[in-house]
Amino acid sequence: MPRRRPPDLPTRLPGLILRALTPEDADAYYALLDRNRRHLSRLGDYQEEGDATRAWVRNELDQDPGPHLRYGIRLDGELIGRIDLIAVDPPRYGTGYWLGQDHTGAGRATAACEALFDYAVRALGATDIFAGVTHGNDRSAALLRRLGFEPVADFAHYTRFRLTRGQSPPRRGIETV
Ligand SMILES: CC(C)(COP(=O)(O)OP(=O)(O)OC[C@H]1O[C@@H](n2cnc3c(N)ncnc32)[C@H](O)[C@@H]1OP(=O)(O)O)[C@@H](O)C(=O)NCCC(=O)NCCS
Repeated sequence: MPRRRPPDLPTRLPGLILRALTPEDADAYYALLDRNRRHLSRLGDYQEEGDATRAWVRNELDQDPGPHLRYGIRLDGELIGRIDLIAVDPPRYGTGYWLGQDHTGAGRATAACEALFDYAVRALGATDIFAGVTHGNDRSAALLRRLGFEPVADFAHYTRFRLTRGQSPPRRGIETV
C-alpha cells in the first residue's frame, strides 16, 4: 500500500518550499536534470542523474520512497532541486541534496536543508543526520558547516559530516553515507 505523502515544508525564504517529489513531476524533473547534467556529475556524484533518460526518471519517481523522504525544492512553484532524508537507521538519518545551477549562490539549498532537518528532529525524533561530501565539494561542505554539521570521518573519496541533536541510542552501524 502506498505510504502517506509527507507534508509540505515551508522554508524561511519567501516562495521556497519543499513538496514531495512524485511521478507527476517526471517531466519537470527530467527537464531540470537535462539542464544540469554536468553540474551534478562533475565531482563524480550523481552519475545516474548525469546520464538520466526520460525512462530512468519515470522509473525512479514511480518507486515508492518507503521510509525515506523524497522532496522537490520549489521556488514559486518551479522545481529547482531535490533533497532526500534517508532512514538509514532511525533515529539516525542520511541526506542528499542538489540545486539547479541557476539557483545556487542565494542560500536556497541551506534554507531547504534547514527546513528538512528541523522537520526530521521535531517530527521524526532524529538524533543524528549524516552526509557524505566528496573531496573538493567545498560548497556542500560550507553548507553543512553553516548548519552546524561537523566532519566525523574521512574516507578515500569523501568526508562524512554529522549533525547531532538530542541523545543518540546505542549505534547499530551506519556505513551508507
Ligand atoms: C551543494 C549545493 C547544493 C550548494 O549550493 P549553494 O548555492 O552553495 O548553497 P546555497 O543555496 O545554500 O547558497 C549558499 C550561497 O549563497 C549565499 N547566501 C546568500 N544568502 C544566503 C542566506 N540567506 N543563507 C545562506 N547563504 C546565503 C552564501 O554566502 C553562499 O554563497 P557563496 O558560495 O558564494 O559563499 C550546490 O552546489 C549543488 O547542487 N551542487 C551539485 C550537487 C551536490 O554536490 N550536492 C551535494 C552532495 S553532498
